[in-house]
Amino acid sequence: MNKSINGLKNSLEAKSIERYLHPYTNPEMVAENGPQIIESGDGIRVTDIDGKTYIEGMSGLWCASLGFNEPALIEAAVGQMKELPFYHSFTGKISKPTIRLAEKLIDISPNNLQKVFFCNSGSEANDTAIKLVWYYQASKGQPQKRKIISRKGSYHGVTLAAASLTALSYAQVGFSLPLDFALHTTWPHYFQNSHQDERQEDFSKRLASDLEKLINEEGPENIGAFIAEPLMGAGGVILPPKEYFNLIQPILDKYEILMIADEVICGFGRTGSMWGSETFNIKPDIITCAKGLSSAYIPISAVLMSKDIAEEVEKQANNLGQFGHGYTYSGHPVAAAVALKTLEIMEDRGVIDHVKGMEDLFLERVSGLREFSCIGDVRGVGLIGAAEFVKPNSEREKLNPKHKFSAKVVKAIQENGVILRALPIDAIAFCPPLVIEEKELTEMFDRIHDVMPEMDKYSKALD
Ligand SMILES: Cc1ncc(COP(=O)(O)O)c(C=O)c1O
Repeated sequence: MNKSINGLKNSLEAKSIERYLHPYTNPEMVAENGPQIIESGDGIRVTDIDGKTYIEGMSGLWCASLGFNEPALIEAAVGQMKELPFYHSFTGKISKPTIRLAEKLIDISPNNLQKVFFCNSGSEANDTAIKLVWYYQASKGQPQKRKIISRKGSYHGVTLAAASLTALSYAQVGFSLPLDFALHTTWPHYFQNSHQDERQEDFSKRLASDLEKLINEEGPENIGAFIAEPLMGAGGVILPPKEYFNLIQPILDKYEILMIADEVICGFGRTGSMWGSETFNIKPDIITCAKGLSSAYIPISAVLMSKDIAEEVEKQANNLGQFGHGYTYSGHPVAAAVALKTLEIMEDRGVIDHVKGMEDLFLERVSGLREFSCIGDVRGVGLIGAAEFVKPNSEREKLNPKHKFSAKVVKAIQENGVILRALPIDAIAFCPPLVIEEKELTEMFDRIHDVMPEMDKYSKALD
């Protein structure tokens, strides 16, 4: 037992270190510093077991969009628990809220999508989307059309197939991934990956041409789908460069490659529209979504698909005797009831209009961080944004990663009362609950801003 566990003996912290394998955590660091146990939530704030309260500037993991104690969601869960706490949807059985949620999602979906499949997490939704693509292509007599293209720097989850599409080394190294169906095309990060003096539109043209080149190298007959987050979240809050999707879509159409929009972060208002696909003019054949679907109060995710895919999949299922895919908790009635209530609240309270109303202030405050010499780029849309660090006063030269600068900034900001997240490209993300009010947004950014002069000074002292 190491020193710090002894120090914390018998406390919940010590038990957490001893008995819990913490996801996405450096074990030595958590053993040294202890985990932070969050005990309660109220609106946009959470409080830890030491009684310290923070503004949750990341909505947890980009997900608790309605804040941390929405009574109507809790009542929806309790009400459904009392009526029917569980039923499955295998062998033609189903519960009422599951049907209603499927209908609601189709009502609000873009691009005339027609059918829904339910899972429990974003990763499962993406794995399901991949299986649907394979099933669909096989049914159409082209079983070799199996490869899926994602973009470098994208995040699609951690299950075996989803992690293969997640093109971030931390999700693959040590796991013998990616699997060989996954291909990765150029990183669409204009700030870091554009050439000197390359306009955004020209950068997008280059990305589109790289995609087409990859398709032709691998053979279009071998490529089943392309998957993209409308804006890349965990990889760095990277917005598509101008015209990007307008150039990509015709290439996919030309080679009969399906378009999967991973809306796990962007869906349900985050970018100021119901879907990121609407914000960025994407015409998806499949949408995967999770997180904001239930404001993260309960695990649920969904895959929405076009009529063509639904019909082909059902035809194949009839040929084979059944659709051989499903989770015990697919369409769980309690999760479906909470998701339905989430969507109802979004409509009744005009949450998307509220996001649009907050967007200018949000972007103004994100942009305000430019005044610090260690910040090279700021960006955002709706209520999601990032500030990316560089060597002080350089255009885009990165700080030495050994300094873990963004992690240090996040720590300092947290000490000043706001929880944020450090991103792998040395940036910090902002993703507050969608219900954040003007006064709260101002407080959040005042607290962030207050910490920056000291951090800026510190960045100048780094080698
Ligand atoms: C865009 C995107 N897709 C998929 C996932 C995976 O979701 P989950 O962690 O629920 O499996 C995430 C998680 O952050 C995500 O951001």
